[in-house]
Amino acid sequence: MTHAIKIDQLKFCYNPDHPVLSIDSLQILEREKVFLYSPSGSGKTTLLGLMAGIHRPVDGTVEILGRQTNALKDAEIDRLRGVHMGYIFQQLNLLPYLTLYQNIELPCRLHKERNRRASREGSLQEAIHHLARHLEIDHRLQNLPSEVSTGEMQRAAAARALIGEPEIILADEPTSALDADRTQAFVKLLIENSQNTTLVFVSHDRSLESYFERSVDLLSINKASGTADSTLVGPKRTGKSGGKGRQ
Ligand SMILES: Nc1ncnc2c1ncn2[C@@H]1O[C@H](COP(=O)(O)OP(=O)(O)OP(=O)(O)O)[C@@H](O)[C@H]1O
Ligand SMILES: [Mg+2]
Repeated sequence: MTHAIKIDQLKFCYNPDHPVLSIDSLQILEREKVFLYSPSGSGKTTLLGLMAGIHRPVDGTVEILGRQTNALKDAEIDRLRGVHMGYIFQQLNLLPYLTLYQNIELPCRLHKERNRRASREGSLQEAIHHLARHLEIDHRLQNLPSEVSTGEMQRAAAARALIGEPEIILADEPTSALDADRTQAFVKLLIENSQNTTLVFVSHDRSLESYFERSVDLLSINKASGTADSTLVGPKRTGKSGGKGRQ
């Protein structure tokens, strides 16, 4: 049983007077699909930032694919993230002056190894078109983000995270601007396209929980929130989904 992400005795704050996260243990297995929820302002984006090495723990450790972020230099973390992770940001963060195609291609332009992974079975161009067809945005690839719908932007942000099959995908409320039907369709597509990938999906929307193998209620594990219980949170496959798994 191998962990994709392993958190131990984590403490994090932006300001020393206001602890944001205090988590004893959270372990996410390779290829596990995890739904992470809690109310607005309770630290979900911050936790994903720690899982991506964008933030480093003030105390304790975050291990990504066996490497502790505190022990890595900035350039090593950038490479770990760029090659092995896809991050779908809450604000999508598509570059406005690049077409959808160029946005999806970006991680491969920035990291040769990601490029090699994406073009393992053909050219990079073929890989982008293949992914775009699956996500039903192939007819929009030459458009700028400002020329497409929010749903199409969200699917392009997902394609940019998925290109080159990274080991880990972190998705931060990627469906917040969609209606219920489109949200469900997006989550299905994302899961279908990330079979071999660890997926941590953040949302307020508990109706999406049943698509995932396991749910984690951040409030229940975050001692800084004041409502955490003291049980340890560790890995155990629940098999094919069924909603609220154990944490
Ligand atoms: N860059 C920052 N500097 C200082 N405080 C921050 C920063 N980012 C977030 N915070 C604070 O940290 C806490 C957790 O914020 P975070 O964005 O992680 O919550 P969230 O659960 O993702 O919320 P939402 O559901 O609204 O996206 C909040 O109190 C927020 O104000
Ligand atoms: Mg957030």
